[in-house]
Amino acid sequence: MSSIQKAADTRGLAGQTIGDTKVCSVNQTQLIYRGYEIADLAANATFEEVSFLLLEGHKPSTDELARFEAELRDMREPHPEVIKVIHGLARSAPNAHPMNVLRTGISLASHHDPDCEDNSAEAELRKSKRLLASIPAMIGAHQRGLEGKDPVSADPSMSHAANLLWCLSGETPGEIATKVMDVSLILYAEHDFNASTFTGRVIASTNSDLHSAVCGAVGALKGNLHGGANEAAMDMLRDIMDDTTQDSDLTVGAWMTRAFEEKRKLMGFGHRVYKNGDHRAGILRDWGLRYANEENASAKKWFDLGDEVQQIMFEQKNIHPNVDFPCGMTYYSMGIPVPQYTPIFVASRITGWCAHIMEQHANNRIIRPLAEYTGPELSNWND
Ligand code: SDX
Repeated sequence: MSSIQKAADTRGLAGQTIGDTKVCSVNQTQLIYRGYEIADLAANATFEEVSFLLLEGHKPSTDELARFEAELRDMREPHPEVIKVIHGLARSAPNAHPMNVLRTGISLASHHDPDCEDNSAEAELRKSKRLLASIPAMIGAHQRGLEGKDPVSADPSMSHAANLLWCLSGETPGEIATKVMDVSLILYAEHDFNASTFTGRVIASTNSDLHSAVCGAVGALKGNLHGGANEAAMDMLRDIMDDTTQDSDLTVGAWMTRAFEEKRKLMGFGHRVYKNGDHRAGILRDWGLRYANEENASAKKWFDLGDEVQQIMFEQKNIHPNVDFPCGMTYYSMGIPVPQYTPIFVASRITGWCAHIMEQHANNRIIRPLAEYTGPELSNWND
């Protein structure tokens, strides 16, 4: 380790405050979006209201909200070429990762956005709304293509959360499914300088455009140490369920002990900031369990297993679940295909990303930290 790292383990900029933001505060005691605490927002706001709060910087008035919702509903259909290409990739490149396909869709959308090269606040707000509104249709077109079905047109009569579920399944979602999705989108929307948001800010700081910054953020969120953990957490639970079902002598505890011995990272657990638990995890778990109890009793076993895994992680490692752990069980209970969990994270976090990109452009200086050289001593090439 270098001298800097010996002082404190600052790898990955751990513990380093490297800027300020008016968008969000993440700390051990609270998660706050522009002055409003996450439990308050999850209980009393809609995702549309939270999106307005993040993008515009204040709680919307009744009229402002009505105008915002109407704008989003009018923007839900991406350019036809975006849907055509995304849907076609499901057939021509069926193994392409859904996050990479969504990244392609967002990049394609930039070519058809008249504001693409305009970094003014007004233009970036327009671009943010277009992406927020149309990403559900992009996600749906890919999933339905993978199922050999035609894309469905976005439904302007539905709420944002309901339209996302409609685009994915082609079925009108029920009340509780819509509510659970809406809460999950609120919980996922923003989280200060997490890896994908910081990626977006670094790209924006070079005076590059919003779509380029968002494409970079999508790439960062895909990783299983970040947003990709929601899919990996559900895959881990399915492995535990399968292994302990096939081998009746193998207990969950024994499975976990083996994972600890193999020094595996258990997906959906731990957090760089939260060391006493993620404020969002309990909220989403409770809504997910409510969905299972009301709509899909067979899915309750995932929450029972999740509680057992969570207990063992706490007792043996003092490590708490993050929001991605309950997300896996919740979306699985709702019948959402696992490979679409992280794209749905994008459908929410696009609000936080765009708020930060606009904040960076409004008061910008290129982000360029220093590095300590630990390479070979100086030599002459002709020696
Ligand atoms: C998100 O930053 C954000 O805000 C992100 C996010 C957001 O909203 O944007 O909250 C969303 O990305 C949540 C995190 C999702 N990722 C995972 O669930 C992947 C599994 N988690 C770990 O990889 C890890 O906990 C991280 C990546 C989340 C945090 O990495 P840190 O801060 O480097 O980990 P740490 O210092 O707290 O861990 C100390 C030790 C580890 O030492 P190393 O092996 O890393 O050297 O604790 C152990 C481990 O020994 N440990 C784990 C573990 N997490 C930490 N051991 C097993 N399983 C885990 N999940």
